[in-house]
Amino acid sequence: MSWQEPFLRWRDRRLADPAFQGWLAGLPLIGALARRKAAQAFDLCAGFVYSQVLQACIEVDLLGLVRTGPLSLESIREGTGLPAAGAERLVRAAAALDLLAPRGPGYGLGETGAALLGNPGVFSMIRHHKLLYEDLVDPVELLRARRTDTRLARYWAYAGEAEPGQVKTESVSDYSDLMAQTQAFIAAEILHACDFRKSHHVMDVGGGAGAFLEALGRAHPSLSLTLCDLPGVVPLAETRLTEVFPGREIRYAGRDMFRDRLPGGADTVTLVRILHDHDDDQIRILLSAIRKALPEFGRLIIAEPMAATPGAQAMGDAYFGLYLWAMASGRPRSFAEIRCFLNEAGFAHVRERRSRQPLLTRVIEAL
Ligand SMILES: C[S@@+](CC[C@H](N)C(=O)[O-])C[C@H]1O[C@@H](n2cnc3c(N)ncnc32)[C@H](O)[C@@H]1O
Repeated sequence: MSWQEPFLRWRDRRLADPAFQGWLAGLPLIGALARRKAAQAFDLCAGFVYSQVLQACIEVDLLGLVRTGPLSLESIREGTGLPAAGAERLVRAAAALDLLAPRGPGYGLGETGAALLGNPGVFSMIRHHKLLYEDLVDPVELLRARRTDTRLARYWAYAGEAEPGQVKTESVSDYSDLMAQTQAFIAAEILHACDFRKSHHVMDVGGGAGAFLEALGRAHPSLSLTLCDLPGVVPLAETRLTEVFPGREIRYAGRDMFRDRLPGGADTVTLVRILHDHDDDQIRILLSAIRKALPEFGRLIIAEPMAATPGAQAMGDAYFGLYLWAMASGRPRSFAEIRCFLNEAGFAHVRERRSRQPLLTRVIEAL
């Protein structure tokens, strides 16, 4: 038992005592702090309702309706197709959550609503959350065993799949689209954090439909590019990148990255939102395969949201922890954990590159 433990137990007993809570709330300065803590606890209890308000706003395109300026309740009712009472209830809830804000006689965008509109990929994720919401209906039941019959495990066709190399393009196109739609901000962070001018040939492993290579290829027109993903996914990337870069030579490698040899020739490998999807044994296999595929001073860049991110702890172990559990594969890892796996695979120099939005992604460079 640590030396603080007796004090922490005393504190827990006091904080759980309603009489103490009432006394605390009445104190001048500490009272404000106590009320903030109470509001946080309430948000924790009610968070699922807030998410469903957001889900409804996206489904009836409420934010899109007021994008160009405030509208009256009557116009919002017409635009959403909801009956008057339901439309008013939703508008008031959205305003309470800063998605909308009262403006003159009607409602316009709130600051949070305006920020969400600036990132259409978030809308795709919110719609996608319907699946996770269903899987989480009975959270304790979900946690009893890792099951591959969840909605998320079926959606991510490679998760819990014994032969991911056999998965057909029809089964991967939905998730590949979702990943492409949510790639813009991630790619911007990677390009901001890492200098690709010293690379000649970049291979994006688990590159999906090619959205990251598209951003990289636009920013660095003379780079050689290879996209490696499951054989079922590669045709999606080929279609996209051939259209974006007609005539540019891009290599495509349909591989199961845990079983097949990775192609050589690249001096830089990128893993964008890959490691967290897989369990520890697979991470070891993948990182050592990448080490072998790279030349001696080759560089590996890893970009993904990570556990224990200061100021965004809930995103790591709460959101991704439960998301990846429901998906039946992987877990969020901290920078320190990933560094250990990298060292084990033979990457001696590992450092974090500064990301402007660590909530969305952190970036690691390893040599
Ligand atoms: C979460 S998505 C990320 C896609 C892309 N890097 C991005 O950030 O948009 C994971 C990708 O890894 C690929 N993947 C999963 N298992 C794989 C395997 N065994 N071999 C090759 N690719 C795999 C998936 O097909 C998918 O494209």
